[in-house]
Amino acid sequence: MKNLLRTLKRCAVAAAATLAVVSLQPLSTAQAAPAPVVGGTRAAQGEFPFMVRLSMGCGGALYTQQIVLTAAHCVGATGNNTSITATAGVVDLQSTSGRVQVRSTKIYRAPGYNGNGKDWALIKLATPINLPTLPIATTTAYNSGTFTVAGWGSATEGGAQQRYMLKASVPFISDATCRTYSGYSGLVASDEICAGYAAGGVDTCQGDSGGPMFRKDNAGAWIQVGIVSWGIGCARANAPGVYSEVSTFSSAIASAAATL
Ligand code: ARG
Repeated sequence: MKNLLRTLKRCAVAAAATLAVVSLQPLSTAQAAPAPVVGGTRAAQGEFPFMVRLSMGCGGALYTQQIVLTAAHCVGATGNNTSITATAGVVDLQSTSGRVQVRSTKIYRAPGYNGNGKDWALIKLATPINLPTLPIATTTAYNSGTFTVAGWGSATEGGAQQRYMLKASVPFISDATCRTYSGYSGLVASDEICAGYAAGGVDTCQGDSGGPMFRKDNAGAWIQVGIVSWGIGCARANAPGVYSEVSTFSSAIASAAATL
């Protein structure tokens, strides 16, 4: 039951998100940029070219130029699906300069997904998007350190979806530490990785789900280690963000992508 509540809570944004995006207000230039994500700053145009905004109100990343990696809780069942629009190429969702919008053709949701771990899915696009992809971690080597998160989700808990992509940095939290936080005892250690500050203040939030958590690899290139999944509220103290542990699923993701 607890898990059910958590799942519902984190999926509630999806239905409202399409409307929320449409009703976003332009920022006054006199105003400071909003805290992104929560506690973040604005991403520069082209800084994270692999970032995708999905029309149900989630994020994603280009796994290939024609396949978006996102969260299972953002999508419906595996099968043909032309209802999702992916937007890429812009930090400003309202800018038409450089913006690419492509419809989905198929969904692949992680087999056995039931709201407890396994929170990943692939979306096949109707046509390739000519932008850089984000390689995923295939070993646990990068499951530590400081991660970057980005998206168009709420900049405050319960707040509106964002017009401009926001970014933030969050440190790794061990499974053992993460489990000690209230509401996190059910953490699926093999499938989930926690990140954030015990003091709170910086976090992903509703609408960032499905987006990547990434860092630099040893060669200085971005590599995806997580997928925004859930948290208790956003940016609260002792309530970190929980991300799907991409390295655990890298083989399954590659096999699934090959079928799409
Ligand atoms: N499940 C949320 C979504 O659908 C993302 C929640 C992330 N929460 C957090 N505190 N890090 O967008």
